[in-house]
Amino acid sequence: MDDGDPPACMDGLSVTGCERCPALVESRTRIVDGTGPADADLLFVGEGPGANEDEQGEPFVGRSGSVLDDGLREVGLDRADVRITNCVRCRPPENRDPHAEELGNCRTYLDAEIQRVDPELIITLGKVPSEHLLGRDVAVTSEAGDIADATVADTIRPVLISVHPAATLYDRSQEATFTDTLDKAAEYAGDGGQSTLGSF
Ligand code: URA
Repeated sequence: MDDGDPPACMDGLSVTGCERCPALVESRTRIVDGTGPADADLLFVGEGPGANEDEQGEPFVGRSGSVLDDGLREVGLDRADVRITNCVRCRPPENRDPHAEELGNCRTYLDAEIQRVDPELIITLGKVPSEHLLGRDVAVTSEAGDIADATVADTIRPVLISVHPAATLYDRSQEATFTDTLDKAAEYAGDGGQSTLGSF
């Protein structure tokens, strides 16, 4: 394979055999693709797999995942109804933030997934995905709940900024912010969500 060619991502969803980031290839057990329906209305984007995700091969299955699952249920959604993915698909060593180059290397796959799913709304979980997709500095705590239009995967799309689920574990005051943001996301999610239209 030519170094410049992205490895296979034929269906826009699953990646095989990528070795573009030497440090991540070294630290990962496996590539962690997104999960959930390929036609989901909502696409949640996290930072990158942690230890649990690396072990189980699925995004958000550790403590952050429990917070996300609980939050989704609270606003009338289920994990099975939404798509969940990450900016990078391989676990960074010692859970460090992905480097800019690694984010760039994996962007082809994230964009392919966004194009394939073509969600009504993208929800960025935390600072790294928010800044990565909006292409600017984001003060997540104060901007959480805001929806910004951004050109993502060649199309202008609404992006809802959220605090990372883990932030609620360290700072209980973030819980309401997180739930309110998910509630806003649910309004986009058709019948499965708590669209205010449904009450009329
Ligand atoms: N945190 C993330 O950003 N992504 C995961 O998949 C798990 C934890």
